[in-house]
Amino acid sequence: MSTPDPGAQAVLLAAGKGTRLKSSRPKVLHEAAGAPILEGPLRALEALGVRPITLVVGAQAEAVEATFAGRARFVRQDPPLGTGHALLVARDALREQPQRRVLVVNGDLPLLRPESVAALLGAHREHGADATLLTAVLADAGAYGRVQRDAGGQVQRIVEAKDASPEELSIREINAGLYVFELAPLCAALEGLRPKNAQGEYYLTDVIAALLASGKRVAALQVADSAEALGVNTLEELAQAHRALVARRLQELMLMGVVIEDPATTMVGLDASVEAGARIRPFSFLEGRTVVRRGAVVGPWARLENAEVGQGAVILDHCLLRDCVIEDGAQVGPFSHLRPETRVGAGARVGNFVELKKASLGAGAKTPHLSYIGDATIGAGANVGAGTITCNYDGVAKHRTAIGAGAFVGSNSTLVAPVSVGDGAYVAAGSTITEDVPQDALALGRARQSTKPGWARARRERLGTKKFHG
Ligand code: UD1
Ligand code: CA
Repeated sequence: MSTPDPGAQAVLLAAGKGTRLKSSRPKVLHEAAGAPILEGPLRALEALGVRPITLVVGAQAEAVEATFAGRARFVRQDPPLGTGHALLVARDALREQPQRRVLVVNGDLPLLRPESVAALLGAHREHGADATLLTAVLADAGAYGRVQRDAGGQVQRIVEAKDASPEELSIREINAGLYVFELAPLCAALEGLRPKNAQGEYYLTDVIAALLASGKRVAALQVADSAEALGVNTLEELAQAHRALVARRLQELMLMGVVIEDPATTMVGLDASVEAGARIRPFSFLEGRTVVRRGAVVGPWARLENAEVGQGAVILDHCLLRDCVIEDGAQVGPFSHLRPETRVGAGARVGNFVELKKASLGAGAKTPHLSYIGDATIGAGANVGAGTITCNYDGVAKHRTAIGAGAFVGSNSTLVAPVSVGDGAYVAAGSTITEDVPQDALALGRARQSTKPGWARARRERLGTKKFHG
């Protein structure tokens, strides 16, 4: 009878300063496809149920810990003296699970897929190895560590690019930065690490040669898709990761039945979702936790951040929508700006050059043109004419406007909040409304027009100017 497999725990390395990004933000918090790059490897581990996950943090540890709180336990490495040193710092935490082998994952691998992590664990078990590393063969091996093999194909060691001879640099098989180790031999090998290299760091990669020297078994698995080995050290690599993640996401969506008219100009972030039967038109960006339901059409040129777009709703050209809900069948745009806490009811319409903030439109309500509606509730079926403004701010505090169901607000009205217009009431065009308008009433809040017949002609004659026509 075989003993049950003890399973794996994981260490994610995220303490590096990310010097090559030339940014004050810690590297692993830089975003690709709308999520911090650490999300890639972290989600891969979570998808496989690997537990516990130990996250080694250093540079701006508080910010990294706050971002991933509850999803890992944290060990601080300060100062960061190399990837091998990062593991030395995590060693005591790892020993709390002495039976579990250790998956070590560089935190800057945003394209890593759970399938590759699972394949590596499988290869490690199959070979009965003490250490197994993931490798990739690249056309340009760049600054990656090179995997040196002997004539028989057995891995001998990893050589960092900065320490490599020209001959070693010509090796195209690289270390991807994902490893499985048996805990006891790993700990023993870590003890022997010395920072005798071009960077003066404790290299985790030196553990490979050390294990072999002490008679341990080292195996390697070549990743199926070498794109997954992209390690982000520079802003150029960050942009590459972004592109690749977005391309992947769009491909998934198209396979599911989402129409993406022009993938090259469309961005759907990792946390945004789109249902089958929706259509995303060119130059559109779905960011944050945006949700687009079936039959909806978005764009071209729309940016949605944490927006929910209901079934069959249409977001026309050039709209910006943030933290808002568009219910089924509503239409927004072109050129609308929907700010946080806005809700557009089913079948409602928001038109050209309309800004909504903390506003809710009832079903079928309309604000078709040129309005600012802030801190307001608009009842079902109400019609808010062109140029209507809610004066929600008195220079000190914000106040609310309520417009009742079926109300009609004439064009170019200003509603000075706090104020309400009752259900079914009318506001005459051009009014300034400062007092509540009761249900079904008509309110006029403008100067009465006076007309002087013949006045203009008399003036022309007096001044001796020509007739302007006829
Ligand atoms: C590392 C590997 C290299 C491999 C490449 C794959 C080493 C010595 N080299 O190089 O063989 O080809 O990844 O992308 O491991 N980190 C810490 N503490 C530290 C230093 C780094 O936690 O003291 C973290 C970083 O935040 C990063 C990861 O470890 O997430 C890798 O470090 P990085 O400096 O990016 O290593 P590379 O030079 O890319
Ligand atoms: Ca790296």
